[in-house]
Amino acid sequence: MNLFILTGAGVSAESGLGVFRGPGAALWKRYDPMQLATPQAFARDPALVHDFYNARRRNLIGASPNAAHVALARLEAGLAQRGGAVTLVTQNIDDLHERAGSRRVIHMHGELLKARCGSCGMVVDCRNDLAIDSRCGCAGALRPHVVWFGETPLYMDQIYAALDVADLFVAVGTSGAVYPAAGFVREARAKGLRCCEINLEPSENAAEFDDRRYGPASEITPSWVQEILEQ
Ligand code: OAD
Repeated sequence: MNLFILTGAGVSAESGLGVFRGPGAALWKRYDPMQLATPQAFARDPALVHDFYNARRRNLIGASPNAAHVALARLEAGLAQRGGAVTLVTQNIDDLHERAGSRRVIHMHGELLKARCGSCGMVVDCRNDLAIDSRCGCAGALRPHVVWFGETPLYMDQIYAALDVADLFVAVGTSGAVYPAAGFVREARAKGLRCCEINLEPSENAAEFDDRRYGPASEITPSWVQEILEQ
């Protein structure tokens, strides 16, 4: 079995990392994404943008994977033993899938624990706060290695290639509000794949899914993984 998994902020919610949308406290209810997550915002007020991502980086460093991350890693290992494969595409910029043991993770929106030079494009590890005077070896200014609104997500060729060979699609903890990720389920359906959604509540594109399971990802994902591994 070739499984394509798409994850979003909901998979990390129970690890204490905020979601952007959804019931209760959500980041984009408190903050305006246009002031914090666009290239224009960074050009206008880089200190404000750094503060936002610095706080999220510190929070991430103190967080741990939850049962949903662990179950998805177990699924990858279990399918590999049976000759199958998992492609885990995440919109999340955290590293909780990797820390739970997932090996093949595609970070289409970048990674919070990396910084990128605005001049030469070099990507470097980054576990500390960034400031407006944080510089690359070439003297260019460093920015968070994340994809902002208006920028092109990363690894799109790899992602569409994985969708081409998949035979099951599952989305975990994503609102279906942000494209292109929100459009993957439609591509998957067009290829005849069975599609499953795991989320706290129906996503914006819930109607595209054949199998919908609602509740906390830490509870629903392990039982779904168990079902897949028993098939
Ligand atoms: P969202 O914050 O848009 O959606 C998170 C989804 O997870 C919502 O539908 C919640 O109801 C659900 N949820 C919350 N807690 C949950 C839990 N414990 N278990 C399961 N589901 C839960 O997150 P994404 O869809 O990942 O991009 O957002 C996509 C992109 O929008 C992000 O990558 C980010 C954001 O703006 C950028 O910053 C460019």
